[in-house]
Amino acid sequence: MNKLLIALLVSVGITGVAQAAGDAAAGQAKTAVCAACHGADGNSAVANFPKLAGQNERYLLKQMQDIKAGTRPVVEMTGMLTNLSDQDLEDIAAFFASKGVQVGSASLSW
Ligand code: HEC
Repeated sequence: MNKLLIALLVSVGITGVAQAAGDAAAGQAKTAVCAACHGADGNSAVANFPKLAGQNERYLLKQMQDIKAGTRPVVEMTGMLTNLSDQDLEDIAAFFASKGVQVGSASLSW
């Protein structure tokens, strides 16, 4: 039993390392709630909400981890990342990073 468990843990670990980054396709399915502010493909149309499309994957992941932990407070996103796992955040980061940024679609309010 223990050997099986160890083998399982090791293979899960190896799979995790092999994947390294997130799965963009899986990430897309987790971003429905984000689209209201950030746009379906991460190209927010409102200047107050940052564009996520085309941003660096590691940067996006770090920001989401900080927002989730509360070290980067984003009141608009309160609780939204709470139920997402590290893998979910990696997938979401991969999804938005894979999208092309559209320049100029957001307009400043002043
Ligand atoms: C109600 C609006 C709203 C929703 C919904 C929302 N966000 Fe945000 N998000 C914001 C705002 C506002 C900021 C920027 C706050 C600031 O200026 O620091 C932000 C910042 C971010 C950033 C950092 C971007 C950067 O350039 O540093 C990431 C990444 C992010 N959101 C991901 C998500 C994800 C993933 C979801 C869905 C699970 C989501 N957001 C849902 C409003 C929202």
